[in-house]
Amino acid sequence: MNKKLVIYGASGHGKVAADIARLNGYEEIIFYDDDLGKSVLGPYQVIHDFKGYEDYDLFIAIGDNATREKISLRMKKEIITLVHPAAVIAEDVTIGKGVVVMAKAVVNSGTVLRDGVIVNTCASIDHDNRINEYVHISVNAHTAGTVTIGKRTFIGMSVSIINNITICEDALIGAGALVVDDIREAGTYIGIPAKKK
Ligand SMILES: CC(C)(COP(=O)(O)OP(=O)(O)OC[C@H]1O[C@@H](n2cnc3c(N)ncnc32)[C@H](O)[C@@H]1OP(=O)(O)O)[C@@H](O)C(=O)NCCC(=O)NCCS
Repeated sequence: MNKKLVIYGASGHGKVAADIARLNGYEEIIFYDDDLGKSVLGPYQVIHDFKGYEDYDLFIAIGDNATREKISLRMKKEIITLVHPAAVIAEDVTIGKGVVVMAKAVVNSGTVLRDGVIVNTCASIDHDNRINEYVHISVNAHTAGTVTIGKRTFIGMSVSIINNITICEDALIGAGALVVDDIREAGTYIGIPAKKK
């Protein structure tokens, strides 16, 4: 039987997810979007109603962490996880539902990726990290060992986080920052070393 998938969110992020889905054997891929103005996304059709697609698997491809959480939690259907075949994931890594791990990402031993996490292209997460629900680790960001990141926190591209750091929920770490101290308060942090903006 054909593997069939609806991807919620007709966006650039969704197109990358579609590519990973194809590499995971999905032959029929269709997008869902609330925006009635969107009818196609590249080669894919965009639908605005799930009726008739109940037997398709479901993936949520929404970049905004809080929105991805809200939509994921109201879905009755289980959300699949997508892992690019060129990602490297240690055998004892725990991965939740609705996670995507993109090309050339590395996730090392003992790490936990909770539901709805995005590990973007070329990001690396070292050993024994706890990446909580709906966190986004952007392109080329790197965490050292034993890092904990709170729910919905956004780690910008090329951010580095040294070992044994804890970052709270709902923080935003700007592109290129170096995190060397725990972050205990939600807000935007930038620079080397990262400071509140
Ligand atoms: C931190 C961030 C959220 C700030 O966005 P913003 O509030 O719109 O900020 P602005 O672009 O108005 O810039 C305000 C000031 O902060 C500086 N700034 C912005 N982002 C910065 C960053 N990441 N590091 C250092 N300085 C930064 C700007 O140069 C500007 O400085 P100035 O006032 O001296 O001119 C954003 O720049 C950022 O880094 N986003 C992450 C993007 C990303 O990683 N995407 C990955 C997708 S996979």
